[in-house]
Amino acid sequence: MSTIWILNGPNLGRLGSREPDIYGTDTGDDIHQRLQARFPELTIEWRQSDDEAELMSWIHQAVDTKTPVIMNPAAFGHYSYALRDACVLMQEAGVPLIEVHLSNPAARESFRRHSVISEVARGVIQGFGAESYALALSWLHNNKGDQ
Ligand code: DQA
Repeated sequence: MSTIWILNGPNLGRLGSREPDIYGTDTGDDIHQRLQARFPELTIEWRQSDDEAELMSWIHQAVDTKTPVIMNPAAFGHYSYALRDACVLMQEAGVPLIEVHLSNPAARESFRRHSVISEVARGVIQGFGAESYALALSWLHNNKGDQ
C-alpha cells in the first residue's frame, strides 16, 4: 500500500484564514507538504471539495482502485447520508476509511456532536489539529491497509 488519499470537505479550502483560533494558520497545502515529508514512503494525495457529489465520486474511485482514504468530511459529516452511503461501499470493499477532524467536534456546538460517517468508518481521530491526519496516516502505514 503506497498511495493514500486525503479527502477534505467544504470550507477546508479556506484553511489558513478560516477561524484560525480553531483550525490554526496552516493552509491545506502546508499540511499536505509536512505530511508528505514525514511519510516519504507513501504517496499522499490531498484533495478538497465543497461539492458533495465530487467527494462521493472520489470515494467511488477509491473503492474501484482500492485506495485507502483519510477523510475530513467537515460539515457534511454531520448530515450527509449520501456521503455516508458512499463510505459503506468502502467498508464492503474492505478498503479502510478513517474519519478525521482538526478540532474536537464533541467539545463544540451540539450539532457537531453527531457524525453520520463515524458509524461506517474504520476509526475516527479528532481534536489534534493537523496531527489528526498524521495519526491516521501512521495507522494506515503500520497496518498496511488492513480493514
Ligand atoms: C471540522 C469540524 C466540523 O464540525 C466543521 O464543520 C468543519 C471542520 C474539523 O476538522 O474540525 O468544517 O471537520
